[in-house]
Amino acid sequence: MPPNRPLKIAPSLLAADFANLAQEIRKVEEAGCDMLHIDVMDGHFVPNITVGPFIVKAIRKLTRLPLDAHLMIENPERYVKDFAEAGANHITVHAEACPGNLGQVMDLVRSCLVTCGVSLKPETPLALIKNYLKDLDMVLLMTVNPGFGGQAFMREVLPKIKELRGLYDKDIEVDGGINKDTSKEAVGAGANVLVAGSAIFGRPDVKRAVEDLRCQA
Ligand code: DX5
Ligand code: ZN
Repeated sequence: MPPNRPLKIAPSLLAADFANLAQEIRKVEEAGCDMLHIDVMDGHFVPNITVGPFIVKAIRKLTRLPLDAHLMIENPERYVKDFAEAGANHITVHAEACPGNLGQVMDLVRSCLVTCGVSLKPETPLALIKNYLKDLDMVLLMTVNPGFGGQAFMREVLPKIKELRGLYDKDIEVDGGINKDTSKEAVGAGANVLVAGSAIFGRPDVKRAVEDLRCQA
C-alpha cells in the first residue's frame, strides 16, 4: 500500500450562495481549504446546467486558491482551452464523455499548462482508465451519480477507491455525499481529496464544517 497522501479539502461551489460568491469564497479561504471545486454541467452529459468559463473567470478574480474545474460535459475537448484561459488550474473530464479519445483530450488539457484529471461515474469500472493512470495528476471517483448536490454517498464505490489506491499513488478525489461520517470511509479506502458542497456551505459555521472533515479517525 503506498504511503498516505496529505488530506485536501475542496469545497464545491455548487452549494454556495451565488449571489454572495465573494463572501462564500472568503469563508472557505479562512477555513483553510486547499482548492475550490467548480462543477460545470451542460444539460447533456448530466441533466443539470451550471456555469461556464465566464463565471470561472469571475471567480479567478476573487481568490488565489487553485480552481479545480470538474467538467460534466459532452465533447469536453471543445471547451478545455476556454476553462484554462478563464483561470482553472486543474481540469477534470469524464472518461465516459471521451469515448475513443481520452488520451487526446488529456494531451489537450496538459497542452494548456494545467494539471489533468479524469473522473468516473459510480458505475464506470476502473479498467477504462488503467492505461492512463501514469499521465493523470488526479483521479476523481464520483460517489454519487453526477448532476446534483445534496445526494447520498454511494458506499458501493468504496472497493473501487481501494482498488485504485493500490494502483495509483497520486491524488484520489471523491465527490458526492461527502460529510464527516462518509469522509472517514472514503479516506479509509484511500481517497485524500474530499469534495464537499452541502457539508460545507450548507452549515452555519463553515470553519467548523471544514474542521469536521479534516478530523479523520
Ligand atoms: C455532483 C457534483 C458535486 C456536488 C457535491 O454532480 O459533482 O461536486 O456539488 O455536492 P454534495 O457535497 O452536496 O454531495
Ligand atoms: Zn464535482
